[in-house]
Amino acid sequence: MIFLKLSYISQSRLTGLFSLVILWTLSTNTWAQKIIRAPYIQLAKSNSVLIRYRTDQATLSEISISTDGKTFNPSIKSTNKVSEHTVAVSSLQANTKYYYRIHINDQVALGDSSYFFKTAPTVGSKDKISIFSVGDMAAGETQRKIYNAYVNRQKSNYTNLFITMGDNIYCGGSDGCWQEDFFNPYHAGPLLRQTALFPSTGNHDYDNQAFPYQQDDSNMAYYQNFTLPSQGELGGIPSNSEAYYSYDYGNVHLVVLDSYAWGKDNFRIFDQENNIQLNWLKEDLKATKQDWKIIYFHFPVYTKGTYDSDVSGEIIKLRDYLTRVFDEYGVDLVMSGHSHVYERSRPLREQYGLSSEFSPEKNWPFNSSGRYDGSDKSCAYVFQNVEPKKKGTTYVVNGCGGQTAAHRFNWPHPVMEYSLDKRGGSMAIDIEDNRLDAKFIDEEGEVLDQFTIFKEVNKITKKTINAYDPIELKASWPGPANSYVWSSGEKSQKINLRPLKTSTYTVTDTQKCLQDSFEITVNPPLGTTKWEELIHQPFESLEIYDLLGRTWKSIQKEGFIDQSVMDGLPTGQYILEYRLKGKSYTLKLIH
Ligand SMILES: [Fe+2]
Repeated sequence: MIFLKLSYISQSRLTGLFSLVILWTLSTNTWAQKIIRAPYIQLAKSNSVLIRYRTDQATLSEISISTDGKTFNPSIKSTNKVSEHTVAVSSLQANTKYYYRIHINDQVALGDSSYFFKTAPTVGSKDKISIFSVGDMAAGETQRKIYNAYVNRQKSNYTNLFITMGDNIYCGGSDGCWQEDFFNPYHAGPLLRQTALFPSTGNHDYDNQAFPYQQDDSNMAYYQNFTLPSQGELGGIPSNSEAYYSYDYGNVHLVVLDSYAWGKDNFRIFDQENNIQLNWLKEDLKATKQDWKIIYFHFPVYTKGTYDSDVSGEIIKLRDYLTRVFDEYGVDLVMSGHSHVYERSRPLREQYGLSSEFSPEKNWPFNSSGRYDGSDKSCAYVFQNVEPKKKGTTYVVNGCGGQTAAHRFNWPHPVMEYSLDKRGGSMAIDIEDNRLDAKFIDEEGEVLDQFTIFKEVNKITKKTINAYDPIELKASWPGPANSYVWSSGEKSQKINLRPLKTSTYTVTDTQKCLQDSFEITVNPPLGTTKWEELIHQPFESLEIYDLLGRTWKSIQKEGFIDQSVMDGLPTGQYILEYRLKGKSYTLKLIH
């Protein structure tokens, strides 16, 4: 049975205490009530989420949840009437799917089977997660096609995170604009209601604010609409800001920056080296122990799309400060928007200056496209702790989630492996254990670019076992079924063997980019037993192998060892294994 705790809490002062009951009333009218802003998921943890939605009138409401979509657990009702509903659902199980229904005046107002969310895997867990990444999503046909293309490709696979690269709207920054250009279009598909949303800000999100633009401006619709982890609620160092923040999800640490507005110290992140956002970023990256580090923010540090990173003074400063930090702390992936194109670098290091200063030999540790699709020079990027110089940060410009444009002069930027203009698209990122796959999916659903990173593979494992003991060997990377090539002939990630002599086994991927080796030392065989000594020995199951591992007898029912067990076996030596009362016994036998 699910223990469910629901609390209504303030959107602006969420401090991780899901049991607070603070009511926020925007309207006192009590007539007809309906949901005018459909639900969206915030602050997803392994044991709680926050669901936000809006009603046209202040009203009581309630959320009930179910793990099977049929039996909905009774929930706590709100005690005061509000129109801006911010409901924390807590005491949940990790990595679990929950259906939910919203009730107004004791009626189900919304909640068909498409209304569900999944809690986060526990922090550090190696479970697979999927991310939808999109930027500069000007409303319209291109935005709709990009969204549909992603959703269609994802099929029934759950998308854990919906992240944005800023410039979420282009219609002036007002609340009505957010409704028309963001909430309505994304509610037309499944993600907004199912997937945890962690946006970032772009310049256009500040459009209706007075200059100089201030982070965390409570008059701004962006900050009113979202409840973001400013207090380290989801891991990471508290930023005390919803303009920039970090969070853990599974084995990934994600960091969101604000590359545009002024902070509480009246500096932007690129104004000078000593500013609170940049200092926080360093502290946050230093503290995380997560396997993967992903950072996203609006301004790209390398681009030749609708902006030129060799010309913009702001971007030149931003790059100079940030890329050194990304190098120092081993950031794996940086995604931005602003430039209305798609650009993707190879893993890059120590490239702090203009594009004219780029040197492939110095700044590209890999001579590969990283596409990992069998094409020429396409092996995945492999990062190993023993090779600290052979790793880097992959930079993606993904500012074509609705807006598209032609490139500028000197295209493409030389750090880029792949560059595409005049085409809309999104990125699908899958992370499982030590493997990251990213794909650019255009508005027609075509995967035009992709890359894969592995960490800590190509392992050499040494094990010593007793003769005839079974052993399980496992390749160090996750991959599709039948994508493994074992020296012993198997094709799965895990195999079970019974080595009869000291041997080395290897496994590669079908692209021949990765290889693990297992050096198995086999201790000398057991002493031998005459089979007659075992007469009358009871067993629950029994198997007899020869010394080459070939099975001669397999009895999968209870019995006693007698002459009939040995019938048909030529004279020689065998391994007899039997089970009794949950234990396994192995003997070398002379017959
Ligand atoms: Fe922008």
